[in-house]
Amino acid sequence: MKNTGGKRNRVDSDWERRKAQLRRGPLPRHVAIIMDGNGRWARQRGLPRLAGHRAGLESIRQVVTACGELGIGVLTLYAFSTENWKRPAEEVRGLMDLLVEYVDRELDSLVKNGVRVRVIGHPEELPPRAQEALERVRQRTAGGQRLELVVALNYGGRREITDACRRFVADVVAGNADPRVDEETFASYLDTAGLPDPDLLIRPSGELRISNFLLWQSAYTEFWFTPVLWPDFRPVHLAEALADYQRRRRRFGGLDAPGGG
Ligand code: FPP
Repeated sequence: MKNTGGKRNRVDSDWERRKAQLRRGPLPRHVAIIMDGNGRWARQRGLPRLAGHRAGLESIRQVVTACGELGIGVLTLYAFSTENWKRPAEEVRGLMDLLVEYVDRELDSLVKNGVRVRVIGHPEELPPRAQEALERVRQRTAGGQRLELVVALNYGGRREITDACRRFVADVVAGNADPRVDEETFASYLDTAGLPDPDLLIRPSGELRISNFLLWQSAYTEFWFTPVLWPDFRPVHLAEALADYQRRRRRFGGLDAPGGG
């Protein structure tokens, strides 16, 4: 017991130190994460895949808190893709149950910590119990001012762009939009309308792919990959990603400012 407490204190003070360091540099306004590696985490322990997803909930909890503490404005989590329906029905059911469990368990602390939850994707195609939980969390957190937590559920970047095209064309046909559309106007048809593009995208578990996530929005996003599996991902890994981000020079296709860093 004594050892565990000692370890926790050390982790806490490491985090406080890193937080203070990070606050001295530019922090991303929007961090996006592809939560990956839950299945492998479970397999390494001889556990069912769902045990990995369940362990991933604790990572979500800690990363949400950490982003709030750091003053990051938006955190987007890829929770369920349009392709994830290909998984066995039992796993899909289990993921939906975990979503409900997460909402029930975390709702009060999300409200207390000023988190506002927004969903992107197609939640209306999820089972009714999941939709109800999402509606509950959306309503109860609507006043949150500190961190916007965007949960991508039944989300796919290509589908999002196709949907946006369809809505835009309908507006053109109805005479409500100019066909000579510009990028800013088109972006207002995406699910992420009004959000800044992600500055930093983190993918754990060693995979080096975008997997149909925020395709339009990640045009100039900085990517950070780690072999750490999502259930093992902790604020200390987020801090590593942020420190790396602070060392990068973002030129957005231009040149460094003369004499600037
Ligand atoms: C990818 O790991 C993870 C997912 C498809 C689901 C992410 C979901 C959670 C962390 C918990 C559920 C939370 C909500 C809010 C729905 P993987 O299964 O692809 O891992 P693998 O590549 O190692 O098999």
